[in-house]
Parts: sequence; structure tokens; C-alpha cells
Amino acid sequence: MDEVLVVTEGKALKHVQVREYVRTLVSGAAPGSPAPSERELVHHFGVARMTVRQAMDALVVEGLLERIPGRGTFVARPRRVPSGPTSFTEEMTRRGLLPESQTLLARREQAGPGVARALGLTEGDAVIHWRRLRRADAVPMCIEDAYLNEILIPGFLQSGMPTSLYDALEDRGLRPTWAEDSIAADVATDEEAALLEIEPGGAVLRHSRRASAEERIVEVSRSVYRSDRFTMWVQLGREG
Ligand code: GLP
Repeated sequence: MDEVLVVTEGKALKHVQVREYVRTLVSGAAPGSPAPSERELVHHFGVARMTVRQAMDALVVEGLLERIPGRGTFVARPRRVPSGPTSFTEEMTRRGLLPESQTLLARREQAGPGVARALGLTEGDAVIHWRRLRRADAVPMCIEDAYLNEILIPGFLQSGMPTSLYDALEDRGLRPTWAEDSIAADVATDEEAALLEIEPGGAVLRHSRRASAEERIVEVSRSVYRSDRFTMWVQLGREG
């Protein structure tokens, strides 16, 4: 019995050793470069071809290597992972800008018909309305009105407004995992123009979002972006 265990452990160790050795060899290698050959690895480690195979398979599953039928095994291109709905903080950081947020209003309100419908509530139900002026590198980028389903985030207004709404939702296990967005061209109202520091009637982009965490709709929002500062970036993909 003991012997079987030792043999199994020994084999597992070899397989992990080979795997980690290959990982080190290919780390930093350009995508498309050939992976070390199985024959060389068999020779180098003095192990069975099966063991090397197992190690390489693990790296293929991990996405570090890819097998191209008839050609061999290569360093894989990094996988494009759908990021899910991103926050203003993440969007600006990705652009190399410093996000800032100034609360213009944060209060409990009764949902109007549009917000109630979008959040899947009844008109008059309690929602939290949070209006912020959002800057990037100290210059206004957008005005953002978020409406949140109060039932899902009890005590939200009492706990001090967070820097990032999505981080705060994440802390409550409610980080949006799905969203539908729409964007339309428009001109700023006088009030918006003053806040955004643009000419009255200047061009803006109106962005709306409905976001849910799994099956629960947590947020609807309307944002007005300065169109001279903001380009929407959308990643599209398809499996397989
Ligand atoms: C984006 C979304 C908004 C969301 C905001 C949260 O701008 N369009 O719907 O409220 O991100 O941003 P943050 O987590 O930085 O507060």
C-alpha cells in the first residue's frame, strides 16, 4: 500500500516539475513561439512521454500554450476575457487618467415611473438617487445620476458615500455582472454645460445603463459625457 502511494506521489511530482519548468521557459516568450519539444523534455527529465504530455496538457488547459493540429504546441495568445460591466473609476484608470468624484446629491427618493420600470420596482418604492460630477485628471468628464434599489443595499446612505459605487456593491456581493447600455448624441442643457465647463448647447453623449448582479437589477444610471473628452470603447467577442 505504502509503495503504491510513494509511486503515485513521485509521478505527480515529476509532472508538476515538468509543468513548472516549461512555464518558466515560456514566460515572456512571444505568442506563437514554439513550446519546448516533448522529446527534449523526456530526455531532460528522464520521464515517460505520458508524464510530459500530462504537464503540457495542463498548460494548454490553463491557456498558456495552444496546440495547433498538424503543427505542434505554441505559446498561446493571451485570452480575451470579457470584463463585464466596468465602472467609471476603471474606465478612467484604463485610459491613464485620474478619476475623481464630487457628490452633487445623495438621497432617498420615491421611484418615478421610468426608474421603477427599469429597476423592476413599483412606482413610489424607495430608491437611492446619487448624482455626481465626475472628473478625470481634474477636468469634468460627465455628470452621473445613479438610481439604486434601496431594498438591496440597506444603510447605504448612512455608511458614508464610497469612492467607487461598483467597489461598494462588490463589498455587498452585488457587483454588476450584466448590463445593457445605450448611448445617444445630444446637446447639453445650460445647467449641464455649466457643470461640465463647456459652451451652453455644446455636444454631449447621453449614456444609460441598467445593471444587474446575477438576477437582481441593482442600478439604473444616466450619464452625460462631454463628447470632446469621451470616446466609448466597446469590446465585442464570440466564443469558439
Ligand atoms: C459607470 C456606469 C455607471 C456606474 C459607474 C460606477 O460610469 N455607467 O452606471 O454608476 O460606472 O462607477 P464607480 O464605481 O467609479 O463609482
